[in-house]
Amino acid sequence: MNIKNPFPITGYISPEYFCDREEETQKIISAIANNRNLTLLSLRRMGKTGLIKHVFHHLESEKEYRLLYFDILSTTNTADFVREFSKVILLDERKYSSNFFKKLLSFLTGIRAKIVFDNLTGAPEIEFDYQNNIEIERSIEAIFEYIGSQKTDYVIAIDEFQQIVNYPEKNLEALLRTHVQQRNNVHFIFSGSNKHLLLSMFSDYGRPFYQSSEIMYLNRLDKDIYADFIMEKFTKVGKNMDRNLVLEMLNQLHIYTFYVQYFFNRLFEISSKNIDNALVTKVMENILLERDYTYINYRNLLTTQQFNLLKAIAKEENIQQINSQVFLKKYNLGSASTVNRAIKALIDKEMVYEESSIYRVYDVFFEKWLQRL
Ligand SMILES: Nc1ncnc2c1ncn2[C@@H]1O[C@H](COP(=O)(O)OP(=O)(O)OP(=O)(O)O)[C@@H](O)[C@H]1O
Ligand SMILES: [Mg+2]
Repeated sequence: MNIKNPFPITGYISPEYFCDREEETQKIISAIANNRNLTLLSLRRMGKTGLIKHVFHHLESEKEYRLLYFDILSTTNTADFVREFSKVILLDERKYSSNFFKKLLSFLTGIRAKIVFDNLTGAPEIEFDYQNNIEIERSIEAIFEYIGSQKTDYVIAIDEFQQIVNYPEKNLEALLRTHVQQRNNVHFIFSGSNKHLLLSMFSDYGRPFYQSSEIMYLNRLDKDIYADFIMEKFTKVGKNMDRNLVLEMLNQLHIYTFYVQYFFNRLFEISSKNIDNALVTKVMENILLERDYTYINYRNLLTTQQFNLLKAIAKEENIQQINSQVFLKKYNLGSASTVNRAIKALIDKEMVYEESSIYRVYDVFFEKWLQRL
């Protein structure tokens, strides 16, 4: 029999496959209901996108809002941004109104855009023909005018929002801010993992978005709740696993959502009914072995100092005093200033993160791999 794996590692399926986040979900819904924009921050792969989708799942049944989600990670300029934004509006319109083409004509007028159909899927898309930046700005205004003219409220989630800081045009932030403030039927959720960039957008005095959004930091899931969730998935299909072993694995994986999901997805795949220590170890071995090639390559991206520091951080698991003499001596890392330079590079490359003054290797499997060296 083909049992669906209850630990999906991509996308959001339904509440059944989503562990907890009840408090966060209610907080976000309440912020929307009370007209506060919200910025969702966390380490990478902790569950921001999943949470947004989960919130949307709740809001969908209420039918009070039109829900737009788009991810701007792959965008590099304002024109890309407009393209992604228009695409979701188009898809949304198609869902709600039968004469959406007619309706959209008003939206497309004056923004040098036309509807084209994807050759393969037949899905409608908007094609733009901009001549200059003013036309791009004009199209953003047109989008917001269009949304503003609708009778329903919108919740617009823009994922990987920090990306706009990298656009060559520097005025999008200010332009968006104006519209974000003016339209009272639009509620925003901004989300991203670059804490530094996002926080500076929303909390630096003088930046357009200064204090215009409530900041929510997404932490790790509660260990006991996550353990119950995992146990329930195994028990449901008649697999036995000791709760203490689940807890032990959650500790080892630092309750890091993606890595927990991935590990248990692989463990679930094994047909064995009884899941014991030996099996858990074997699954971990397999995961690390498969990643050998990738991790060896990572090594080539780093200088010797950086790699040695990374290895030391992995071995310590959570190191606080990164330039203490004890740590430097123990791993033969040279001077404090060398380590300071190396740590900066490792954080820039997203190999290491710092959270509450503790340094850790970002990729939990890479950490385990490094520990074995
Ligand atoms: N509460 C949850 N219960 C179960 N699985 C979850 C939960 N939250 C997230 N996941 C899963 O964990 C993985 C990472 O989550 P997600 O993609 O939402 O993180 P993210 O913070 O948006 O990551 P990124 O920074 O890379 O965009 C996904 O596979 C997702 O399905
Ligand atoms: Mg995401």
